[in-house]
Amino acid sequence: MRVCVYPGSFDPFTVGHHDVLEHAAQMFDRVVIAVLNNASKSPVLSVKERVDMISRMIEAEELENVVVSHFEGLLVDYAHQIGADYIVRGLRATMDFEYEFQINALNRHLAQDIKTVYFMASPEHSFLSSSVVREIGSLGGNIEGLVPESIHNIIAERLRKP
Ligand code: PNS
Repeated sequence: MRVCVYPGSFDPFTVGHHDVLEHAAQMFDRVVIAVLNNASKSPVLSVKERVDMISRMIEAEELENVVVSHFEGLLVDYAHQIGADYIVRGLRATMDFEYEFQINALNRHLAQDIKTVYFMASPEHSFLSSSVVREIGSLGGNIEGLVPESIHNIIAERLRKP
């Protein structure tokens, strides 16, 4: 059974993340979306809120081989713990490359048995990030089409709260 972990901050989960998830769910038997608090970012949504939102989306879309969880500590340790041989990440443009290049090098240093696969974001999502969704949503703008439809209302409502 091919298991992958799809880690990230997902603050919030966007259609760009969804795009990557679809590819991963086609390629792997089981996809574990793993939410974490990235120490270098200041999250707006709590880990619990993010996990709940993603869980709602998985249920609404009946994604049978996808589950969501959260982790702390090293990603490679978490991958070993859940039996994942692969890490999945999305790449939007060259701006992501250096960051991903570094993470990949560190993870390979830490665990040679874990491999990372990358999916390129579709061109129409290359401009999209969780931070722009947070900004638009918190200013009362329309985030339809930027986040999965199944969880649009809950994300929009939450981001409008101060
Ligand atoms: O969505 P993000 O915030 O860009 O995801 C970053 C993530 C989760 C890939 C990275 O921060 C991570 O793996 N953190 C866990 C700590 C760890 O394993 N660090 C060593 C490799 S960077």
